[in-house]
Amino acid sequence: MLLTIARSRRILFVGGKGGVGKTSVAAALALARAREGARVLLVSTDPAHNLGHVWGEAVADAPTRVLTVGGGCVDAVEIDPLETIERHFASVADTMRHLLPERLHASASAHLERARTAPGSHESAVLERIAELVAAGLETHDLIVFDTAPSGHTLRLLALPEQLTGWTETLLANRDRSDRFAAAARSVVGTRDEQPSADAQLRRTLIARRDRFALLRSAITDAAQTSFVVVAIAERLPVAESIDVVRQLRQLGVDPAAVVVNRRSPADAGPLLAERRAQEEQHLAVLRDATHGIPITQVPLLPGDLAGAEALGALADRLAAAT
Ligand SMILES: Nc1ncnc2c1ncn2[C@@H]1O[C@H](COP(=O)(O)OP(=O)(O)O)[C@@H](O)[C@H]1O
Ligand SMILES: [Mg+2]
Repeated sequence: MLLTIARSRRILFVGGKGGVGKTSVAAALALARAREGARVLLVSTDPAHNLGHVWGEAVADAPTRVLTVGGGCVDAVEIDPLETIERHFASVADTMRHLLPERLHASASAHLERARTAPGSHESAVLERIAELVAAGLETHDLIVFDTAPSGHTLRLLALPEQLTGWTETLLANRDRSDRFAAAARSVVGTRDEQPSADAQLRRTLIARRDRFALLRSAITDAAQTSFVVVAIAERLPVAESIDVVRQLRQLGVDPAAVVVNRRSPADAGPLLAERRAQEEQHLAVLRDATHGIPITQVPLLPGDLAGAEALGALADRLAAAT
C-alpha cells in the first residue's frame, strides 16, 4: 500500500514522534522508488539531521547524490536552518530598505535583529527553503520525500504557507499604493523615478516569493500530489500522538494517506517480546479505530542499525512486501 501511494504522488511528508523511524522510513521509501527508476529528492527538515549518517555520506543544504541505481537516483538535502536564516534575513533586510524611508532604516534593522532570534522567524525561513525545494524539485525530480522534524514542529510549518502568502500580498499591495503615489508625485513635480531597476527587481522578488508559497500551499493540499505518511510505534503515547496528527492534517487539508507502525515485536522470540507484542496489539486496535480508513503498514523490529544502502534496501523490501 505504502509503495503504491509513493508511486502515484509527487510529494511525500514522513512524520511522527521523535525516534520512531521517520528517517529510516523516508530513506527506504526514497530508495524503493529509485530502484524503480524514479529520480527522488530526499529532504530533511529536522534540525537534528541524520540523513548523512543513514547514507554514510556528507549531506548539506544543496542536493548531494547519495544513490544511483539503474535509471533512478536519490539526491539528499539537509536544510540548514542557519544558512537559510542568513539568506532569508538578507533578503528581508533588502526588501525593508527599499520599502521604508531612510530615516526608518536604523529602527528597522534593530527590529530585524530581534526577529532573527524569534522562533517563528526561524520556521518561516525553513519554510522558505521548503518552498524553493518544492518549486525546483517538481521540475527536476519525480518524487520529493520530506523527512520531517517531530510532529508539532512540522504541523506548525505546514500551516505557515497561507500566512506567509498573506504577508507577501500585503507587501505587494503597499508597494502598488506607493508606486501609484510616487507616479502621481512625479507627474506633479516633473521628476523622474531614480530607482526604476531596484523597484522592478524588488517587485519581481516579492512576486516570485508569493508564487512559491502559493505553489507550496496548493501542492501540499492536493491529495493527488501530496500525502503525509505518519510513522509510529505501537505504544500508548506515540499512538495517541499519531491519532492527533491525523486529525490536525485533515484540518489543514493535507492527506494523511498511510500510517507505518514500526518496530513490531516478534511473537516467536521468547516470552518477554511475545508479551510486548500482545500489548502492542491493544495499542494498534486503538489506532485502527481512530484512523478508520487509513491503511496501516507494519514493520518488524529489525536487528542492527538501519544505515547504508543495504540495510535501507532490506527495509524497502519490507515496505514493498507490505503493499
Ligand atoms: N524497524 C526497525 N528495527 C530496528 N531499528 C529500527 C527500526 N526502524 C528504525 N530503527 C532504528 O531506530 C533509530 C531511530 O530511527 P530514525 O529513523 O532515526 O527515527 P526518527 O527519524 O523518527 O528519529 C535508528 O537507530 C534506527 O536505525
Ligand atoms: Mg530523523
